[in-house]
Amino acid sequence: MIKLETIISLAKRRGFVFQSSEIYGGLNGCWDYGPLGVELLNNLKSQWWKEMTFRDNIEGIDASILMHPRTWDASGHTKQFSDPMIDNKTSKSRHRADNLIEEHIDKLSKKNKKEEAELIAQKLENVQTNEDYYNIIMEHEIKDPISGTMDWTEVRNFNLMFKTFVGPLEDANSVVYLRPESAQGIFVNFKNVMETARLKPPFGIAQIGKAFRNEINTKNFLFRTREFEQMEMQFFIKPGSEKDWFEYWKEQRWNFWKNLGMKESKMKWKIHDKLAHYANYAVDIEFEFPFGFGEIEGIHSRTDFDLKAHQEFSGKKMEYVDTVNGDRYIPYVIETSGGVSRGVMAFLCNAYEEEEIKGDDGKSEVRSVMRFHSKLAPVTVAVFPLVNKDGMPEKAHQIYKDLQKNYKVQYDTSGAIGRRYRRQDEIGTPYCITVDGQSLEDNTVTIRERDSMNQDRINADNIQNYLREKIS
Ligand code: GAP
Repeated sequence: MIKLETIISLAKRRGFVFQSSEIYGGLNGCWDYGPLGVELLNNLKSQWWKEMTFRDNIEGIDASILMHPRTWDASGHTKQFSDPMIDNKTSKSRHRADNLIEEHIDKLSKKNKKEEAELIAQKLENVQTNEDYYNIIMEHEIKDPISGTMDWTEVRNFNLMFKTFVGPLEDANSVVYLRPESAQGIFVNFKNVMETARLKPPFGIAQIGKAFRNEINTKNFLFRTREFEQMEMQFFIKPGSEKDWFEYWKEQRWNFWKNLGMKESKMKWKIHDKLAHYANYAVDIEFEFPFGFGEIEGIHSRTDFDLKAHQEFSGKKMEYVDTVNGDRYIPYVIETSGGVSRGVMAFLCNAYEEEEIKGDDGKSEVRSVMRFHSKLAPVTVAVFPLVNKDGMPEKAHQIYKDLQKNYKVQYDTSGAIGRRYRRQDEIGTPYCITVDGQSLEDNTVTIRERDSMNQDRINADNIQNYLREKIS
């Protein structure tokens, strides 16, 4: 199993991901995508967008991040979108109560105190109120990891939404929130889209966009961040048909990740036993990250909870009326909700491999290779002149400029050819084209495939066809 540190360090070294505002020491829970990272991110989003909207019955939108604050009353986020927090009065540190307890259980297990660990895990499972968390912490003498004391406050809820103000006044009437999920932008536009795009259930609305959560625990690189992107689709259906559509979307979403090269051996389903109050079925697709399995996408059957709530809070009808048979109902919703940044992180981990190969000098060396699917790879093809003379750079540069019309291409003239291959392998470039002496005589080039390392010699005029065929 690869280490998370290996991925983070490669991501930084090769320009995939940087710490946000790094020169000032960084900002916790925020990351910036560099030249290669943004290509990978955009490729993932573009594959998702095509997958969703190149259908008869799904349309896209791009809603604003700031929404009317009543939205969040209706969705339940104002009241319920919170984590249980406890403060230590000596160290002035704040912890998520459930995490503090889980870390204590881990410590006990490592010390072979299995019985006590199991007892606490059982209690944690049955927690109903903040007082229950507090009682576990006090009864089992769970100490603050910083001060080592039990100088705890009671457990209180801490809302995860970022608050800000619209307009010049910073008063209660001008409070708005950065959206904690993109889904509500879809629900509030349900009628607009249905009517303008002349849709009738079953139909979907898709959106990719930023979401913000003031997460307490932001560890594990891109996995849990405070600013992230989601790709969400709400599928509006006739009540009663939710079980079939839920199964349909489960299969569709699993195949999406799989068809982009995610190894099925690293994917699994998580079935929710404890359902949110609005859901009647819910599953997650999980990926095995270096720290263990974690959710990359949720598929939820949300009933008519959201549309009904918006109807109640806004006073606007959220029904579909069938003009032919007079049917009138508030549609049920199947939601597919994936994380773009989590997806990028999963694909970075999924693609990375180290293998021993023979180098140019015949000695064995380790090749780091990112086996990205060619539709995701940040750079599709690289072009090299074998040597920087005899007309090779001119010919190679011409090929590079031609390819640039259709692909993200790199041109590299520096170092031995083996080193240039290694540089491209490490960023996952599926194809490398080399112009050599023979190219000048018969207009052929070599094209080397990243995974097999096989080389074909083809006519330079056929490069575009060759790539088109391989990539499709
Ligand atoms: N509309 C439903 C919803 O937002 P969620 O399970 O809270 O459901 C959906 O989030 C997806 O968004 C997750 O599967 C994950 O990929 C991504 N996600 C959620 N919180 C995140 C965070 N703090 N950092 C990065 N990605 C996050």
